Amino acid sequence: MAALFINPHEDPAPWRAALKRRIPDLEFRVWPDVGRAEEVEFAFCWKPAADSLEGLPNLKVLFWLGAGIDWLLEHRARVPDVRIVRLVDDALTACMTEYVVLHVLRYHRSQPQLDLQQSQQLWADLPQRLPWNRTVGLMGLGVLGTDAADKLKALRFKLAGWSRSAKTLPGVECFHGDDGLVPFLNKTEILVCLLPLTAQTRGIINARTLGALPRGAFLINAARGGHVVVEDLLAALDSGQVAHATMDVFEPEPLPVGHAFWRHPRVTVTPHNASLTDPEFSLAVVADNIARYRRGEPMVNEVDMAREY
Ligand SMILES: NC(=O)c1ccc[n+]([C@@H]2O[C@H](COP(=O)([O-])OP(=O)(O)OC[C@H]3O[C@@H](n4cnc5c(N)ncnc54)[C@H](OP(=O)(O)O)[C@@H]3O)[C@@H](O)[C@H]2O)c1
Repeated sequence: MAALFINPHEDPAPWRAALKRRIPDLEFRVWPDVGRAEEVEFAFCWKPAADSLEGLPNLKVLFWLGAGIDWLLEHRARVPDVRIVRLVDDALTACMTEYVVLHVLRYHRSQPQLDLQQSQQLWADLPQRLPWNRTVGLMGLGVLGTDAADKLKALRFKLAGWSRSAKTLPGVECFHGDDGLVPFLNKTEILVCLLPLTAQTRGIINARTLGALPRGAFLINAARGGHVVVEDLLAALDSGQVAHATMDVFEPEPLPVGHAFWRHPRVTVTPHNASLTDPEFSLAVVADNIARYRRGEPMVNEVDMAREY
């Protein structure tokens, strides 16, 4: 049996080497060199070229090499009716947490204002707050939201979190569902979006939700560009309702040259690099799931396409 790598965006060599080390009996093929299509049991896939998932009659599991499955939802018609597992691994989670902590601290310590002062050669102290007097609100308390919460807790921030279902997390004031959204936002001074992009969450960062934050709040969006209504965010920045925004993700990507975010004095743009996919760590998780599949056990992080995440 064989695994087919369908990822036009990455060099397959490290994936081939990592798979050979972990599952030597599984042949590694790289699309479009499919070979005998009926031998392909697993696909390792990220934003595949059109039609590359067709004509694989014995495909059993599609391993999506990313944490968010919004691309699969958008291209549902092209996605075969097989089991789908998204990518969750230590490297991806650790990098995302670094990103969140980096930008939370940057806002907490007024670094954007200090950068501005330096550009004006201005020596002036700014008021400082203690972390236990500052509330960071995490939209999404899944794998990434809970890991970020753990590390922010260690830095002694006050934490609020919002999810779809009710949760209890030590040190996090938890809100959930539509009714919990505004109370959650009302106390959030630094909002971090780590939601999946679904029909329910598209456009969730909009005039209404930004207006529910305390005036002068900060936004960090490391989830998906589709969560943000761009005009509403620009209006909130212009009015001072939002003091500064850091964004890693956009619609479309790359962020087009000339987009208002590029030169906005109170927007930080990063090129969708909050997190990374490391073949060694990713393949460890994929190989573990292949072993589970072969033993007939449940796989970890299998996606529910009906739930959309
Ligand atoms: N920028 C990057 O480089 C990068 C890298 C990796 C991931 N991401 C993004 O981060 C997202 C989150 O990843 P994850 O692994 O943490 O996902 P996850 O484990 O599936 O967690 C998702 C969280 O969002 C909550 N949620 C989903 N729909 C909701 C709704 N309608 N209302 C309220 N809460 C809702 C879930 O609530 P429940 O707990 O109740 O289910 C859960 O807490 C991914 O989908 C991806 O888009 C970005």
